[in-house]
Amino acid sequence: MAEYKRILVTAALPYANGPVHIGHMAGVYVPADIYVRYQRAQKRDIKFVCGSDEHGVPITIRAMKEGVTPQQVVDKYHAIIKESFAQMNISFDIYSRTSNKVHHETAADFFKKLYDDGLFEEKESEQFYDEKAKVFLADRYIVGTCPVCGNPNAYGDQCERCGSSLSPEMLINPRSTLSDAVPVKRKTKHWYFPLQNYEAWLKQWILEDHKEWKNNVYGQCKSWLDNGLQPRAMTRDSNWGIKVPLPDAEGKVLYVWFDAPIGYISATKELTDQWADYWCKEDTKLVHFIGKDNIVFHCIIFPAMLKAHKDFVLPDNVPANEFLNIEGEKVSTSRNWAVWVNEYVKDFPGCEDVLRYVLCSNAPETKDNDFTWKDFQEKNNSELVSIFGNFVNRTFVLMHKLCGGKVPSLHEDILDESDKRLIEEIQGARDKVQGSIEEYKFRDALFEVIDLARKGNKYLQEKEPWKKVASNQSPVTSDQKLIDNCLHLCLQLTANLAILINPFLPATSKKMLHMMKVVDKILDWENAGKLKLLSVGYSLRAPELLFRKIEDAEIAAQVEKLKSGLVASNQSPVTINQQPASEQPAIKSTIQYDDFAKLDLRTGTILSAEKVEKADKLLKLEIDLGFEKRTIVSGIALHFKPEEIIGKQVVVVANLAPRKMRGIESNGMILMAEDSSGKLHFVNPDNMINPGAPVT
Ligand code: 2FM
Ligand code: ZN
Repeated sequence: MAEYKRILVTAALPYANGPVHIGHMAGVYVPADIYVRYQRAQKRDIKFVCGSDEHGVPITIRAMKEGVTPQQVVDKYHAIIKESFAQMNISFDIYSRTSNKVHHETAADFFKKLYDDGLFEEKESEQFYDEKAKVFLADRYIVGTCPVCGNPNAYGDQCERCGSSLSPEMLINPRSTLSDAVPVKRKTKHWYFPLQNYEAWLKQWILEDHKEWKNNVYGQCKSWLDNGLQPRAMTRDSNWGIKVPLPDAEGKVLYVWFDAPIGYISATKELTDQWADYWCKEDTKLVHFIGKDNIVFHCIIFPAMLKAHKDFVLPDNVPANEFLNIEGEKVSTSRNWAVWVNEYVKDFPGCEDVLRYVLCSNAPETKDNDFTWKDFQEKNNSELVSIFGNFVNRTFVLMHKLCGGKVPSLHEDILDESDKRLIEEIQGARDKVQGSIEEYKFRDALFEVIDLARKGNKYLQEKEPWKKVASNQSPVTSDQKLIDNCLHLCLQLTANLAILINPFLPATSKKMLHMMKVVDKILDWENAGKLKLLSVGYSLRAPELLFRKIEDAEIAAQVEKLKSGLVASNQSPVTINQQPASEQPAIKSTIQYDDFAKLDLRTGTILSAEKVEKADKLLKLEIDLGFEKRTIVSGIALHFKPEEIIGKQVVVVANLAPRKMRGIESNGMILMAEDSSGKLHFVNPDNMINPGAPVT
């Protein structure tokens, strides 16, 4: 550490095509914020930069799906994401965005410098093109039948059913997810960065010089390097992104993974005129906090770009985390299997630190981990409430009751073994917490802080000051001296806890400062381990509740929300240029109640679903109505994969006259809602109920 004069911390720029979820927080933003807050408390020169990643295919696709412009998409999500970070007290020095002018200039200049230095290879190749949507298609946006397992909805890069790695050419009946058109090959020219020329250097720099990197990071880098690096196209055909700054590059933009990491440089430029100190001086410690899916970009591609450019420092460390699963399943934003931060802060106002706590103590530092709502409740109730909050609260209550609301004296002449042990624990905690934070082991560091509070509780329990007879009159009785010593030490411990917990739970630490009537300055890391933080005789405020108990009903509601929010993943073609929401079909003419009463609507459960031959849109469904099973042919095949809707509950028009479709007799109809983008959604009860229940 000593050789560095300043630290620059970056946190992965989230894509502005959706809100952030707790997996993002656990993997990237909470650890980065802990590290930064700790370094600030150490009084080190540190900057913390981030911003929204606003280019790339997923954003243009979302814009097409929603019938809006890419700029509208990023404006919407940039605001939501920024707000979520602020609510979670992620203390960026700047939260920028890559659609900014300064970023466009910085990224274009970076590209131009590499181009002028003759580093790019210009190559023409054939790529898949959607003639209907008029766009080149990334492999992900081509689907078709998997040649290995027959999955009809395999992606152009991978089959999610059998796990095979694919290329679009391998798919049977390939089609564009944007328009359903059959993709055609088109010639296109791009600029390739010759990564292979940096392979030898990268091997030395990572595999030899950075053996201290986390095992998961080092291992992934090794495997990339062992497999050999290939030239990588750094441009794409699109009209959304940073224009390639060359005369013959109409319709070409920089590859999003070329421009996004340069966003760290642009954000620093926006933040301070001294930006070049952080990026160009060798005595800067550059640390990238990211998730594991970003490792190759931050450890191999971006460093090779920085090396090629020559002006910039390289990362000192890239402490990437693995993934956080939810209730045993991988997070899936398309299936809405996620806990969204903007919803959490609404559902649990004032509990931001609880989430920070749970995500840190359960962080996927070395392997994928699981978040469950039950564990969230458990960690809150039996660690934050029962250990940390309880210790601070008891200390304050007893101090008010037995010491007149003031910091009592320490009578050094009568310190016993257990007092001395506690003093040693207080003095020793700083090094333990600090050592772990410096090594990016935030779980261990947090454990040490809680353990110190646990020791405080144990000490109070042993001392039982409430059993002694308090006398605030002089002469001071020996009982009062024992009470004084116990609460004096507990109060100094409380002040220490405020310092040590601050990087992890800043709002809690702030509440503690308020109770102790001390200023922020006390949080300087050099104060940790000190025993005279609160002066004798100083009167303190009444205790505030630091954490509240989380009830079973709140947890049940969250589990229910997660399960009922789950949507079948939809790989159907998306119609472009949908009618806006305001142009919904006009309301039909009024009917009488009797007309309505003729309908027999029932709940049903889908038992099986299969495609109807030669009918793109039809699925043959077997529906359990409780009293009987029905075959219903439904025109939803473009919207749902058969295997995804099995087990779903639906509402069925049960007395519709039978009708033959493609030779199959359909006995009823299922109700669907169509959103403004043309996408279909099931209409179903908010909870699973028995099939056959009348819908009235
Ligand atoms: O994976 C992601 O969410 C990317 N948007 C991260 C970009 S990090 C950096 F390079 F900007
Ligand atoms: Zn397959």
